[in-house]
Amino acid sequence: MTGNARSPEFTAEQLAEVRRLQGLYPDKRGALLPALTLAQETFGWISLEVEEYVAGLFELSPAHVHEVVTFYTLYFQQPKGRHVVAVCHNLSCHLLGAKGIIEHLTQRLGVEVGETTPDGRVTLLSVECLCACELAPMMQVDDRYEGLLTPEKVDGILEGLR
Ligand code: FES
Repeated sequence: MTGNARSPEFTAEQLAEVRRLQGLYPDKRGALLPALTLAQETFGWISLEVEEYVAGLFELSPAHVHEVVTFYTLYFQQPKGRHVVAVCHNLSCHLLGAKGIIEHLTQRLGVEVGETTPDGRVTLLSVECLCACELAPMMQVDDRYEGLLTPEKVDGILEGLR
């Protein structure tokens, strides 16, 4: 990885990957989402500078890229914690206690939804349906799903996040 949020820059290998992805689509804009995902993996979050950098790679206006970034909740517009805990608040999960799970998490972590713990350990989010309604109430912890949540189960999961 090279660069940072102030002067973002992909490596030559990453640039080649962006070009390869762009070549997969009739309009290279089709590769914008995977390029933004790569940018987030590389720079940690999508700053305005990163948006401008990616816009340049696609010959788009920074405003266009900003619209995309702000539409999708999977893109972070500020630094995120080492772990991201995203609780589903949609219908099935709501009916089975998501509100209480979220309240429990805010108390245990000492942050509100959308915030990151002061030690940078966890960012807490509340999100729409994650298509695992059979696990309600459920949440996504980084790349994995945790379901059939209870406050006790949540505590055990938090214990494992360093
Ligand atoms: S409503 Fe929560 S996963 Fe679908």
